[in-house]
Amino acid sequence: MTRIGTPLSSTATKVLFLGAGELGKEVVIELQRFGVEVIACDRYANAPGMQVAHRSRVFDMTDAAALRAVIEEEKPDLIVPEIEAIATDELAAIEAEGLATVIPTARATQLTMDREGIRRLAAETLGLKTSPYAFASDAETLAREADRIGYPVFVKPVMSSSGKGQSKVDTAADIAAAWDHALTAGRGKQVRVIVEGAVDFDYEITLLTVRHAGGTDFCAPVGHRQESGDYVESWQPQPMSAAALTAAQDMARKVTDDIGGLGVFGVELFIKGDTVWFSEVSPRPHDTGLVTLATQDQSEFVLHARAILGLPVDTSLNRPGASAVIYGGVEAIGVAFENVADALDESGTQLRLFGKPVSYEKRRMGVAIAHAETIEGALEKARRTANTVTVKTV
Ligand SMILES: Nc1ncnc2c1ncn2[C@@H]1O[C@H](COP(=O)(O)OP(=O)(O)OP(=O)(O)O)[C@@H](O)[C@H]1O
Ligand SMILES: [Mg+2]
Repeated sequence: MTRIGTPLSSTATKVLFLGAGELGKEVVIELQRFGVEVIACDRYANAPGMQVAHRSRVFDMTDAAALRAVIEEEKPDLIVPEIEAIATDELAAIEAEGLATVIPTARATQLTMDREGIRRLAAETLGLKTSPYAFASDAETLAREADRIGYPVFVKPVMSSSGKGQSKVDTAADIAAAWDHALTAGRGKQVRVIVEGAVDFDYEITLLTVRHAGGTDFCAPVGHRQESGDYVESWQPQPMSAAALTAAQDMARKVTDDIGGLGVFGVELFIKGDTVWFSEVSPRPHDTGLVTLATQDQSEFVLHARAILGLPVDTSLNRPGASAVIYGGVEAIGVAFENVADALDESGTQLRLFGKPVSYEKRRMGVAIAHAETIEGALEKARRTANTVTVKTV
């Protein structure tokens, strides 16, 4: 039996977001539709999710004392982490004390904020197939392990996301530069990298996996294209052989069952023929899954909201769709989007403009989403829509 109270009253069901970007914003909107009271937190004011929440808090979420203070004051029922850079040990303590439920679990946030935690769990504990890998805390170890694995390799800080500090290295001559790049761009204080052998995949997918009160369900696979570790476009469904799809779902079930809790997981997988490699998992909606806004009755954001509230979900795909990212292209405060009417002058297209207060060259400022009869048709439409929008400084 699930009960939802009245927001801003003593019966309120309260959800606190740690991170309030464009993905959180969509989940906040879905929770608002259920009359849930939402508090959005981030390190800067007017983050996208804050603009649709009941109230917001600005603080450094890696600061354990600040995090605890906000949670003790707000007394949320659920805490929904939207980013990885959080004081996750403090979250674990808060969960253990029974102050709030962390989505999906505090352990999930601890495991996935560190590439070493999730990789060792997937490969060594669960026995999932992954790229060959090693960890290094100095340049010499990195060079030695890269030689052992064999070039080309990927080098990634263990604490980083969205391709930050990441390099693809083709020869031993370039490995020292990859170490330096990881150091300057890594997030945590820890100087440590994972070095992975490059997987020669046919395509890569995000398998959106929903753990809900009634069990586990999968969305149709989302295909995507990445540039410098950041997603540029995605489409759904990605055609797959029956054997590859079964293997992908088995892997996703294994890793999400081990993590536990409720909500959407983005399971990132590489596929070649019928062979599937596990890459990583986000214990939350995934950026490539923005496409589900056009393809499913219940987008990944609806699915997350419903699952965390203990409500039933439906992951069915209605039609093919695609998404294409709109980058800032400029460094500016308070940009304007032009040609929006032209961009939307085609049936089956949608836009999300995230409302981020500051634009950077490579910052994701919006996304175009489209559906069509075919995957290719949807991709072309999404690209056309995204390319028509121009970002201007005023
Ligand atoms: N071992 C590998 N073999 C082949 N390609 C890889 C490998 N590791 C990473 N890549 C490519 O780089 C992309 C980004 O890698 P990864 O997902 O590990 O980084 P990330 O910084 O966590 O990115 P994001 O946060 O956007 O998911 C992958 O989606 C894939 O295209
Ligand atoms: Mg990734």
